Amino acid sequence: MNDDCIVIESVGPLHGQASLVGAKNAVLVTMAATLLTEGVSTLTNVPVSADVTYMIALLESMGAHVAFDVIRRTLTIDTTTVNRFEVSPDLMKKMRASILVMGPLLARFGRARVVLPGGCTIGARPIDFHIKNFKKIGVQFTQIDDLLHAQTTGLQATRIALEYPSVGATENILLAATLCQGVTTIVNAAIEPEVFDLVTVLRAMGANIAIQAPATIVITGVSSLRPFTHDVMVDRLEVGALLLAGAISGGSVEVVNARAEDMDVFLMKLQEMGHRIDIGVNGIGVRVTATPLPEAVSFKTSPYPGFPTDLQAPMMAAQCIANGICEISETVFENRFLHVRELQKMGAQIKYVCGDKVQIKGVTALYGMPVIASDIRASCALVLAGLVAKGKTVMTGMNHWRRGYDKLEDKFTALGARVSIEKGAHVMNPIDRLTTSITD
Ligand code: UD1
Repeated sequence: MNDDCIVIESVGPLHGQASLVGAKNAVLVTMAATLLTEGVSTLTNVPVSADVTYMIALLESMGAHVAFDVIRRTLTIDTTTVNRFEVSPDLMKKMRASILVMGPLLARFGRARVVLPGGCTIGARPIDFHIKNFKKIGVQFTQIDDLLHAQTTGLQATRIALEYPSVGATENILLAATLCQGVTTIVNAAIEPEVFDLVTVLRAMGANIAIQAPATIVITGVSSLRPFTHDVMVDRLEVGALLLAGAISGGSVEVVNARAEDMDVFLMKLQEMGHRIDIGVNGIGVRVTATPLPEAVSFKTSPYPGFPTDLQAPMMAAQCIANGICEISETVFENRFLHVRELQKMGAQIKYVCGDKVQIKGVTALYGMPVIASDIRASCALVLAGLVAKGKTVMTGMNHWRRGYDKLEDKFTALGARVSIEKGAHVMNPIDRLTTSITD
């Protein structure tokens, strides 16, 4: 079967500056938030990625009118005529974040219908936390096969404790609670920067939300919300990818609009490797200047403010050619090491310590190979490895790359990389295709 591929050739150190647009993980939930109200909302700094296109299709399938000016990166969403409450199985399978429309639909219309998302390559990814907590605020569920009907005759505010600070579950309950009479308290909430971007949006809509240390969100319901205009926060995961491109290639890269405070632990790990990190005035703008002899560093993923699971694969690529031995533990998702096999193909020395921990012994060189991306962040790891590998790296599984990143290949090219997309050029092995499906 034909598939587009990305071809990467090493050309030495990358140098320069980049300015990035908004985060996929912030814009999708913000788009879902528009369903809480009638009228026209406007989002600026919107990334042009496949997931944004899927979310537009989802909102349109519910009756919203959406216009996307891809040049100005501006999205206008009119939710006045929304009159359907179902997420199509097709969209649910393409993008797990589709589940985020459930909270707004329940709050505004009292009903929603979704197909259970099922597992994906990086783990089982259930939605049990979402369902359990919706039940606590008065939602009834009926399940027929994998179709889930949710309805309520009126949401009831209560105190909810999340057993794990799930980003999606926090966002879904938060969205629903804004229109729920009384005080809803979410204890052990996810506190990722993207959750705070959503809080900013909801407050602009008129929601009453307070944050209590260390991780409690208190929502006092209001009777209605209004449309909003919002500039989506910069994508900290693309920032990470660009800084790693500078570090891994032995160059120097600055992301002029990066927010350093969103990525403390990641930046600390780059420094521990020996790379120099300079942060701009008021924490805006981050530059990495690579050390010629990077040291391997161990790390463990965890919810924010820990090391982000979405930067685990990209950071692993950098460890493959660092000096020494390190261990990487993945604690957020149970199967997020599918890039290991591909990095091994390129010559990386990685062995499993156990299912969620690998040990890496740095090598002096990686080698360009045909490789397959199994999820969004794995695709980034493989392109980063390709930037320093001897010979050509040809990566398939481009749907993942396009879902998560806003033409990141052009940003690498602007820094001096040789990266190009070839249309329908590669024949993917059918067995390898089985390991590529939806994630994030
Ligand atoms: C979001 C991000 C994703 C990131 C992840 C963790 C979006 C669109 N995606 O995904 O890029 O990798 O946060 O930072 O914002 N879990 C359950 N039951 C549930 C919900 C989650 O067991 O009902 C588990 C998951 O399987 C996983 C862990 O909790 O092991 C964290 O998942 P969660 O924080 O919910 O991730 P997402 O919101 O899906």
